[in-house]
Amino acid sequence: MKDTFEGLQLRSTVDPSGVLRLELVEITVSDPAPDEVIVRVEASPINPSDLAVLLGAATAPADLDTLEVTGSDERPIVLAKVPPESIGALSARIGIGITPGAEGAGSVVAAGENARHLLGRRVGMRGGAMYAHYRKLGMADCVLLPEDVEPAAGAAMFVNPLTALGFVETMRTEGFSGIVHLAAASNLGQMLNRICVTDHIPLINVVRSGEQAKLLMNQGARYVFDSSSPDYEEQLRSALYETKITLAFDPIGGGTQASQVLAAMEAAAARDVSAYNRYGTEVFKQLYIYGMLNPSPTVLDRWVGFAWSVGGWLLTHRLKQMGKDDEARLLDRVRNELTTTFASHYTARMGLQEILHPDNIRSFSRKATGAKYLVTP
Ligand SMILES: NC(=O)c1ccc[n+]([C@@H]2O[C@H](COP(=O)([O-])OP(=O)(O)OC[C@H]3O[C@@H](n4cnc5c(N)ncnc54)[C@H](OP(=O)(O)O)[C@@H]3O)[C@@H](O)[C@H]2O)c1
Repeated sequence: MKDTFEGLQLRSTVDPSGVLRLELVEITVSDPAPDEVIVRVEASPINPSDLAVLLGAATAPADLDTLEVTGSDERPIVLAKVPPESIGALSARIGIGITPGAEGAGSVVAAGENARHLLGRRVGMRGGAMYAHYRKLGMADCVLLPEDVEPAAGAAMFVNPLTALGFVETMRTEGFSGIVHLAAASNLGQMLNRICVTDHIPLINVVRSGEQAKLLMNQGARYVFDSSSPDYEEQLRSALYETKITLAFDPIGGGTQASQVLAAMEAAAARDVSAYNRYGTEVFKQLYIYGMLNPSPTVLDRWVGFAWSVGGWLLTHRLKQMGKDDEARLLDRVRNELTTTFASHYTARMGLQEILHPDNIRSFSRKATGAKYLVTP
């Protein structure tokens, strides 16, 4: 007889009247297929993309002032209202039980015949639905962790590490020589900074406070500019002139900050042009928006000439373009540098029931610097 594993899994649903419901549902996991494993989940981070689906959508989160808890201590149920003007943005997920938690780490408790070598071992894994006691998934979505690595250290080995490395791949394949990064003190930004320091890649970090600037300087950053400082634009233009960087990654999205960076790139490029050209310089500038930290519209001022492009950047799309060999090369580096370049620090650890505590929901919704939460089911 095969083993059966029973436990709870977090589910997020929005009903047609616009009520968000977060609850723990019972799951029974059994019979891995030949290429599958069942993992007892030990740790999974709450990343901004997890938060977005947990609470509705990045552009349409539920109103946290309306949070209500019902159910029992063992099986709490959280209800919150989605503002009526936001319901349209959620139409594709109305009535669908979403299971957040993009990545995690845990111990393999059952394995199909082709995955026996993983039995009893600890793996990092991806594929969603990690806020659960057990997760069944294909062995291709698991990476064997080194023996001495704790679950917390292996829990976030895909999303932010591969994205930071992916930026560098994009820089190289698209012929750029350095990177400007906004909201650069984020967990991902700190990883990118450590990669660029080690690999000698010019990186201009833009943050929004003196403390964030100090944090990155202490991690070896050469250029860090605080967008709240009065001489920010001048400092940025000078560094862009010095480094000739013309590629930027922006997780903020809303507002004018990305436009300011394009304008500063154009101004830096124009310094060396002696003749006036009403169409601006010929220096091509690329901005990728890869997040929605500010869900308001992206505002682009048109004083950046004509040699520019703004696009979206998503890890899953880029990994597909890259192919399996390149992905394996990047994952190899992540695995070898899990506790250094790709280390994540957690403010708090929470069991499944604790995720549903209103105070915790308000805390992890802030997406603040150095305030990452780890779910330990
Ligand atoms: N496209 C992709 O494939 C992909 C992959 C991975 C991650 N991401 C995105 O990458 C971003 C960073 O993720 P993370 O896990 O590293 O986040 P994190 O550690 O939670 O950090 C978020 C950072 O953003 C700052 N921030 C929040 N709201 C902001 C705003 N409106 N304007 C400027 N700064 C703001 C915070 O600074 P304060 O402390 O000042 O609030 C903090 O430094 C997220 O947007 C995530 O969705 C995208």
